[in-house]
Amino acid sequence: MKEIIVPPDKSISHRAILIGSLCKKPLKIKNPLKAGDTLSTISCLRSLGIRIEEEWGMRSAECGVNEIIVYGKSWKKPEAPLYCGNSGTTMRLLSGILAGLPYEVILTGDSSLSKRPMRRIGEPLSMMGAKFVGDYPPITIEGGDLKAISYKMPISSAQVKSAILLAGLSATGKTSITEPLLSRDHTERMLEFLCVPIKRDGFTISLDGPFEIEGGLEIEIPGDFSSASFFIGAGIILNREIKIKNIGINKTRIGFLDCLKKMGAAFTIENERLICNEPIGDIIINPSRLSGIEVSPKDIPIMIDEVPILSILALFAEGTTIIKGSSELRAKETDRIKAMVLELSKLGARISELPDGMVIEGGYPLKGAGLYSHKDHRIAMALSVLSLKVPGIEIEGKEWADISFPNFYEMISWFKKG
Ligand code: S3P
Repeated sequence: MKEIIVPPDKSISHRAILIGSLCKKPLKIKNPLKAGDTLSTISCLRSLGIRIEEEWGMRSAECGVNEIIVYGKSWKKPEAPLYCGNSGTTMRLLSGILAGLPYEVILTGDSSLSKRPMRRIGEPLSMMGAKFVGDYPPITIEGGDLKAISYKMPISSAQVKSAILLAGLSATGKTSITEPLLSRDHTERMLEFLCVPIKRDGFTISLDGPFEIEGGLEIEIPGDFSSASFFIGAGIILNREIKIKNIGINKTRIGFLDCLKKMGAAFTIENERLICNEPIGDIIINPSRLSGIEVSPKDIPIMIDEVPILSILALFAEGTTIIKGSSELRAKETDRIKAMVLELSKLGARISELPDGMVIEGGYPLKGAGLYSHKDHRIAMALSVLSLKVPGIEIEGKEWADISFPNFYEMISWFKKG
């Protein structure tokens, strides 16, 4: 059986670096992700005066070698706008921190990030007392004295929830946030690990501020389940046995596995343990046949980034797969519903668009064609998995995989070896 180690978790890496900037004592991060998005976070924080020591010993997929130390609390007003690149997580979570700092800061991004909605953070951060301008990037934030709020989120979004929680650390009073459905809870878990008294009650999280984080601890980052999902998908459609080691298996992230189970996929999870308050384990994928399923809106927040690879698997399932309640996909790095429907149609796939999802009829023959990544890392990787199975697929803009998975093509090439 082939054993695979995928790069460290992008969401958890961002959070560790950003939360490190708020700690009184240095925060050591073991095995952070070195990729386009997390490098954007590091560079923004440096422009804000935060000292970050990097030790990139080996490639990020080789677990446990790389290390970052963040020396927090040395803020200064940046001399120029901060460039967040392609990273929505950088812009939204950093905004939560900036809301509590006494500077006026402009945040910009690349052409994709410039089309992504920021009102979702602007509204709650303004209610807390920050001055926030811009529904789309560039945005301007002038932080200051914040007051705590009780906020009912209109959508489930870990980025919005995290921005409010981070702002809540500098606000006076009890900040309380309620989501319609639970989104990934990495921020809550990391704050708990760093001894911040967070209260959780169903879909509501609260914390009393202001609260200063002591830091002085070490955070180890697990493998990224979203990166692993491409190998899980490849293993299934190519009928290979693979083991993906040291992967984050946080329940708020692995909705994709719940769907695969319903589709009839055979997998097991072993060696389950907790590191730094995050559940991790090894996932073993066995050859299996899939059937189409209906994915309901309540399944979406915990598998949001895996919908593109799920749509690829649905092409090889017997019967129809219907994905609903995923209109948030239209607000990602590209409109991922439109992009997948457009690209897969070029191969002759029977796929159609719904306002909030897609319908895919599995089991029909596909023919090779030239495809486009839409400058979106997850679309690039999902289509590349498909190209392992369908001859004659060429993908323009493959290199966008670097945003979260710099050595993706080198690693995926193992499947081509027969
Ligand atoms: C992320 C949350 C998700 C996800 C994104 C990373 C995070 O976005 O799609 O890739 O790190 O918090 P939303 O919170 O906007 O759904």
